[in-house]
Amino acid sequence: MIQTKRWNLQHDQVNNEQAIQEAAHLLMDGSLVAFPTETVYGLGADATNETAVHKIFQAKGRPQDNPLIAHVATKRQLRALVTEMPPFVEDLIDNFSPGPITYVLPSNGSCAYNVTAGLSTVAVRIPHHSVALQLLKACDRPIAAPSANISGKPSPTTADHVWEDFEGKIAGILDGGPTGVGMESTVIDCTKEQPIILRPGGVTKEAIERVVGFPVDNAQDIQPSTPASPGMKYKHYSPDVPLWLVNGSSEDIQSIIESEQRQGKRVGVMARDDILSRISADQKVPLGQDMTHVATQLYDALRSFKKARVDLIICETFPEVGIGQAVMNRLRKAASLYR
Ligand code: TXA
Ligand code: MG
Repeated sequence: MIQTKRWNLQHDQVNNEQAIQEAAHLLMDGSLVAFPTETVYGLGADATNETAVHKIFQAKGRPQDNPLIAHVATKRQLRALVTEMPPFVEDLIDNFSPGPITYVLPSNGSCAYNVTAGLSTVAVRIPHHSVALQLLKACDRPIAAPSANISGKPSPTTADHVWEDFEGKIAGILDGGPTGVGMESTVIDCTKEQPIILRPGGVTKEAIERVVGFPVDNAQDIQPSTPASPGMKYKHYSPDVPLWLVNGSSEDIQSIIESEQRQGKRVGVMARDDILSRISADQKVPLGQDMTHVATQLYDALRSFKKARVDLIICETFPEVGIGQAVMNRLRKAASLYR
């Protein structure tokens, strides 16, 4: 066990600077520090230090073949990690970075071997969050950071979530309050003539298509049998109890709840407010009404059932447009049943 330092950055700007300096020093010394981004909290390590990066895999229980995203503060730093960039990447960067989008590009080997899990490509992103950007500037080197959760669990959208998983195991947590987007970044393969979406996320397919000017493929649709990126083959985002996705009306959901309750189960439900208002269950977690809100709330909702001691969680399904694509991608990976 190590003592995990927690810096509260929500209000005081002066203390922020000191906290960020301390956190940067810990990172540069090879320790792990969690920090907020606009998507989810990241578990950071110096991306040029193989020993430091190894600690991420150990702390998370992450499979060794699943590469990490290198986070940088500027476009110049992004370019410094890759050998070449197709013209469409320049357009995407100009429109979306800093922002919830990650570019997979040919690596020039600047990052430690285990950041890319030995691949010839590196995933890079510029987060759109003042704490993350200040930290990256203070370090002045790429920081490798997966979502700051134990592998397989829902991603963290608050510092409390990170604390739950890593207290005593990492050097520190910069608490910048709840993250905004709530879904991870969109991961885009930029090694071919046209971009391919490896993981749907904070920047929608529709927005990407508006910038590049033509339809963009999802890797899953081109090659459904092979995992889009190494990380996509693992079970993910799972709460501690089974999650059932139900594509149906509030009446359909209610009848499943009642049939499970008759078998002695405590049933939790998460759904949009309007649907939830028509349902009765042992625990109800509202996701708001619009999809932006659903995305922001989803991981906290999944984690919140732990305290409610339910035996089963039921969630409605959502239209797969805009951010709904990322939400449904995560829910399918988290679910044990789709009906
Ligand atoms: O929003 C985010 O992207 C958050 C915050 C912390 O930045 N990070 C994040 O990292 O979600 P992680 O490790 O949970 O997910 C990274 C995804 C994985 O699916 C991984 O397999 C994929 O990116 N990836 C990383 N490097 C890759 C590469 N070279 N080629 C293909 N996929 C890659
Ligand atoms: Mg993750």
